[in-house]
Amino acid sequence: MNCPNVGANGMTMPKLGLGTWKLSGASCTDAVRRALDLGYRHIDTAEMYGNEAEIGTALAQASVARDKIFLTSKVWLEHLAPDALTSALEASLRRLRCDYLDLYLIHWPAPGMNLAASLGAMMRARAAGKIRHIGVSNFPVALLREAVEVIGAPIACNQVEYHVLLGQRAVLEYARAHDIVVSAYCPLAQGRLGEHPVLDQIAAKHQISAAQVALAWLFAQESVAAIPKAARAESQQANLAALAVRLDAQDHAAIAALPKNQRFVNPGFAPPWDAA
Ligand SMILES: NC(=O)c1ccc[n+]([C@@H]2O[C@H](COP(=O)([O-])OP(=O)(O)OC[C@H]3O[C@@H](n4cnc5c(N)ncnc54)[C@H](OP(=O)(O)O)[C@@H]3O)[C@@H](O)[C@H]2O)c1
Repeated sequence: MNCPNVGANGMTMPKLGLGTWKLSGASCTDAVRRALDLGYRHIDTAEMYGNEAEIGTALAQASVARDKIFLTSKVWLEHLAPDALTSALEASLRRLRCDYLDLYLIHWPAPGMNLAASLGAMMRARAAGKIRHIGVSNFPVALLREAVEVIGAPIACNQVEYHVLLGQRAVLEYARAHDIVVSAYCPLAQGRLGEHPVLDQIAAKHQISAAQVALAWLFAQESVAAIPKAARAESQQANLAALAVRLDAQDHAAIAALPKNQRFVNPGFAPPWDAA
């Protein structure tokens, strides 16, 4: 199945990506290569995941040309100073065996960081052709606003936790108004949405799975992409098939009525999420 794209700020990103957090070793290489064989064209990694070399092996072995793949990596929060960021990017490219990334994200904002300096280093990397697009992750609206309106950085994406149990209304409103894609991480609430009483009912009606309902809900949204991690072939196939699922108004109403305050990724260094 052809994956639809979502676009912003000159960037075109396949709406479905393969998340790779916690994939490691040969099983990571196998999962990424299989996903590419199945039709995935968007892979999400990070220096912190420790699997860029395995993904690099999969990319080198794949029969899909590099320019047909959308590849994202992220700089860890200890490497946000310009020199450190530039070295971290070079190291990621070496491990991934690539000349460029499609998207490079600041993985987490760091308390006391010099955001202008970090984004300046990313803009220089972009001018040098090492990255195609610049983005951030885990940025609440206040920080997005600083990046876009104060610093003037061409932010193409904010990757945040987003699923049927966690709303992101303010981030989405800001992103849509400023031509930014919201990439939904943990779109299956870290696997919890494999089963869920409300999603199960909707799934039974459409003869699909609860996980596919959760993904279809995200895919239906303007300016939103999703990057479920799936090691198993069945999950990878099911998530691709979710691109074709159309939920009806009744389904959307049932999902809208679910609590939207369940955040599962919230480390001690996380920013104040509601900062506007
Ligand atoms: N920017 C950030 O700070 C940040 C934070 C967290 C995550 N992320 C990114 O987002 C990606 C996704 O998040 P996540 O891995 O934490 O959680 P997730 O994608 O919400 O859930 C992954 C779990 O769901 C299972 N699964 C996948 N497809 C399924 C299906 N169709 N039916 C049933 N179960 C299914 C997977 O099982 P199998 O693997 O066994 O198939 C795995 O156990 C990460 O891998 C990473 O790339 C980014």
